[in-house]
Amino acid sequence: MDSIIVRGNGPLNGQIPIAGAKNTSLKLIAASILTEEPVTLTNVPKLADIRTISDVMTSLGVEIANLQDGRVMAISAANLTSHKAEYDLVRKLRASFQVLGPLLARNGEAIVSLPGGCAIGARPVDLHLDALTALGAKVDLKDGYVHASAPQGLKGCEIDFRFASVGATENAMAAATLAKGTTVIKNAAREPDTVALADCLNAMGAQIEGAGTSTIVITGVDRLHGVTQEVLTDRIEMGTFMVAPMIAGGSVELLGGSLDLIPCFAEKMTQAGAIIEETKLGLKVTKGDGPIKAVDAVTEPFPGFPTDLQAQFMAMMCLCDGTAVLEETIFENRFMHAPELLRMGANVEVQGGTAKVTGVKRMKGAPVMATDLRASVSLILAGLAADGETQVNRVYHLDRGYERVEEKLRAVGADIERVPGR
Ligand code: EPZ
Repeated sequence: MDSIIVRGNGPLNGQIPIAGAKNTSLKLIAASILTEEPVTLTNVPKLADIRTISDVMTSLGVEIANLQDGRVMAISAANLTSHKAEYDLVRKLRASFQVLGPLLARNGEAIVSLPGGCAIGARPVDLHLDALTALGAKVDLKDGYVHASAPQGLKGCEIDFRFASVGATENAMAAATLAKGTTVIKNAAREPDTVALADCLNAMGAQIEGAGTSTIVITGVDRLHGVTQEVLTDRIEMGTFMVAPMIAGGSVELLGGSLDLIPCFAEKMTQAGAIIEETKLGLKVTKGDGPIKAVDAVTEPFPGFPTDLQAQFMAMMCLCDGTAVLEETIFENRFMHAPELLRMGANVEVQGGTAKVTGVKRMKGAPVMATDLRASVSLILAGLAADGETQVNRVYHLDRGYERVEEKLRAVGADIERVPGR
């Protein structure tokens, strides 16, 4: 297993290109099942997760051609050969569960392995199953698989989520595009990824209104057609690299970044002392004078503070001039980076879903363990300003969601290298 070594090395300066959004790409790929016509996606990030969902899709009979070094994906679901997404594939990528809605809507039947939990939480799928049941599907659980069927097709209905689940909103919205009649989703997720999925489905001939608000209305159509769609900028990668100059000092321009993707996070970064300027090419983030300010944050569904940026923000608060209180309300176990930051000399006290971070003057490099995707990148960020060497092990977590992170940081002056696994 590879590891990444970071040495504290002074201010960063330069430009970082931000890739296409991982979480959006995964849903657009799954949604291509809804039509027998070709779907072409551009600005697709080169990530392990994309390769994994591609394996799931090909196991269903979907043909995928990766062009331009994987940044363009030509997808054809003209000849589906299976409606079963196997455990062995789904267990590697929870997001594979997003094929359930499209498969059921296209085929009238779908068998998809339950995704199981992951490091950050149990991650049930009850909201997904309740929504598909409301759409008229018969849903049974057998031997760890969801068996969903709707031989007469799906029927429009009203769905009212107790929680604005991103995945459940997206599975329900995709399925409802081919249902008979109108579906109203209340307390829908408002994430930019969900809006991007709605935009793509509409470009395929769906009739979806209200994406980005809490109420989405889908009027079912008989069929969807092919599309060529660009994947939007990855707001989580962008937010991650906004933290880098705050920790290391300096100024970095994030190419393709835009503030409207992370309104709350940008506000918190400004309160912490970041100078954020919109440029012709994206966003420029400069560390203001003086120490990082202590800023509290509570993770919430969009447009609130993104849970996927909580670990990165914590790494920054480890060097703040006071005490910041971070509350994780989305997942039940998303502070696994805290014990690793403690190994680097941070002062973090975790009580349930709350972490109290008291800033220290300097952090010390240390060997640390990546535990999940966003935790691993927070350790790299902390290493940028630590005295000495930080070795982040098990970086396969990182490769699921970040393209060439060491190359992008080295290009702006970081002392960072990847050490191939022994
Ligand atoms: C998506 O996960 C993202 N993944 C996550 O990003 C992100 O953290 C999350 O949304 C929240 O923004 C992808 O898009 C592939 P949820 P998802 O359904 O859809 C509970 C990353 O780092 N819940 O909004 O699974 C669930 O347990 C990943 O890129 C139910 O209780 O998120 C969790 O506590 C990590 N029942 C909360 O809702 C359900 O049926 C948020 O889940 C579904 C969810």
